[in-house]
Amino acid sequence: MKIIFFSAKPYDKQFFDRYNTNTGLTFEYFETHLGPHIVNVVENAIGVCVFVNDKLTADVIKVLASKGVKIIALRCAGFNNVDLEAAKQYGMRVCRVPAYSPEAVAEHTVAMLLTLNRKTHKAYNRVREQNFSLNGLLGFNVHNKTVGVIGTGKIGKAFCKIMLGFGCHIVAFDMFHDEELKAAGVTYLPKEAVFKQADILSLHCPLTHENHYLINKDTMGMMKKGVVILNTSRGGLICTTDIIEALKERHVGQLGIDVYEQEEKLFFRDLSENIIEDDTIQRLMSFPNVLVTAHQAFFTEEALSQISQVTINSIKMLSAGAEPFNNAVILL
Ligand code: NAI
Repeated sequence: MKIIFFSAKPYDKQFFDRYNTNTGLTFEYFETHLGPHIVNVVENAIGVCVFVNDKLTADVIKVLASKGVKIIALRCAGFNNVDLEAAKQYGMRVCRVPAYSPEAVAEHTVAMLLTLNRKTHKAYNRVREQNFSLNGLLGFNVHNKTVGVIGTGKIGKAFCKIMLGFGCHIVAFDMFHDEELKAAGVTYLPKEAVFKQADILSLHCPLTHENHYLINKDTMGMMKKGVVILNTSRGGLICTTDIIEALKERHVGQLGIDVYEQEEKLFFRDLSENIIEDDTIQRLMSFPNVLVTAHQAFFTEEALSQISQVTINSIKMLSAGAEPFNNAVILL
């Protein structure tokens, strides 16, 4: 039984081939992302395996269904790029990897915070050029700061635990309150109160129709001057043009993003020899107090092992007519 991979990188092939033993599955890899331009290459496959920037619109799903595809396997947690209604209409099963080392993403978020704040990236370059001056490297203590967390699911919870270890006060917003976090000292508040109180604000909720542009001119207007905003969740949670204005006005003090609303045209590719057409990301990257990483928060040995093992297991179970473990199937 064949599974066709899209947006496949050498590391995907390495990990998926490593764990594809005695499964009866064969894998075919395409580096391009899935969309209307490529969907016709799918032949004789029971499933497709896709990543965050593959676009599974109703039109794409219709073609996949006409070619006999029964399974859409997301090798990621988020699934905002799949038209679930269309998948349901064509009788497809959609699975994802609900939890793969949430600590990987949480730890990267902290790495972004510390890099921005203590300017280790600048210090690294300076010292290599024998510039031992400290001018411009002044940071602040994270200890005792108020950290706002939007979304305290698996990643948000791992992030809260690390920040509690730093001696921070944590205020959080989520529709569901985690009792373990409450017992550890996290205070749940309405979203607006979190925006108002946070010195550092970190986003860990999924992107939905309701929270698109959660961080915009109005919500940033509620925040403290100098607030540090971190987004390792999904680009569409932040209105990029609004945050550029807030950075220019010095209202947002620092910004760390691992995700960007137009990232599918840029991320996961080496464009170092190209001219970037996207002026918005170029403007963002021109700020000395903005750190952009290219959707790498998940990228650890442990996470890739889990992603490939859970995805292979889900495909194996679904293709045998069984239900996978770990809530991997997305139910409508
Ligand atoms: P999760 O499902 O365990 O937790 C999400 C939490 O957000 C839940 O507690 C939910 O109640 C809450 N939530 C939903 N809508 C909300 C809203 N409007 N406001 C506040 N809270 C809301 O998900 P997990 O594993 O923690 O992942 C969170 C997100 O992180 C994913 O949806 C994905 O977008 C992103 N992610 C990013 C990665 C990266 O490499 N940068 C890797 C993996 C996930």
